[in-house]
Amino acid sequence: MTENQSGNENQNAGENASANELAQLRTLLIDRPPMARELPAFEVDEAPAGPGELFVQWLLGAFRAGVPDAQVMVLSTAGPDGRVLVLRDVDPAAGLWWFAGDADSPKGRQLAAEPRAALTFYWPQLGRQVRVRGTVQSGEAAAAAEQFRLLSPNSRTAALVGRQSEPLTGAEEFRTAWAQAAAELAREPRTVAEGYTRYAVRAEEVEFWQGAADRRHVRLVYRRSADGWQRGLVWP
Ligand SMILES: Cc1cc2nc3c(=O)[nH]c(=O)nc-3n(C[C@H](O)[C@H](O)[C@H](O)COP(=O)(O)O)c2cc1C
Repeated sequence: MTENQSGNENQNAGENASANELAQLRTLLIDRPPMARELPAFEVDEAPAGPGELFVQWLLGAFRAGVPDAQVMVLSTAGPDGRVLVLRDVDPAAGLWWFAGDADSPKGRQLAAEPRAALTFYWPQLGRQVRVRGTVQSGEAAAAAEQFRLLSPNSRTAALVGRQSEPLTGAEEFRTAWAQAAAELAREPRTVAEGYTRYAVRAEEVEFWQGAADRRHVRLVYRRSADGWQRGLVWP
């Protein structure tokens, strides 16, 4: 066998392996319907008057059910972008959902240009989804600084490195920037990353979605009105 033939064979073997993987994946996508397990019932008549209270119950329920990273959500901004973020706080009385990020990142710039967003949570063990839609406001700089100083040293170093989502030439450039930021933090432990901002979605609409294995899902939507929260079901 020539070198060339053996090379072709290897290439074919590689293609077959990936073709096999793709076939396997396609089978899994068909054979594994989501939420094919026992899920909690959603007694909508017993739901609290405000969405914040129900959210607190559901998020606590997700932690208790062992959902890993239950406080992690998708932040969608106006435009084509979404990304995963951590929920930092919730204020049920005001209907505020808090998160944090760099004002000088793509999401920060998008929020500055159009301060509207949606937050989406999904807790697979419970088949529950929550969607929060509303306007976005920035928190006070002093509160952001206070929160920043409570973050782990690695999180603070990462924020000080900054330049989030900009092109990176390689690992070495990152290592150097990290070392500089870590040194700065060691010198000045109270340093706060420049663009670090607390944001809140002021909910206008919050949807609670309870999945069911038989696909008879239940959806309850709260809408903010001049008279407080109105709520109603929507078709699944
Ligand atoms: C589990 C998880 C948690 C994250 N938490 C945050 C966060 O709280 N704040 C943040 O700015 N980015 C967070 N990220 C990174 C974002 O998903 C995203 O990559 C980054 O914010 C850049 O987004 P942008 O280019 O749209 O601004 C997290 C990512 C994951 C996977």
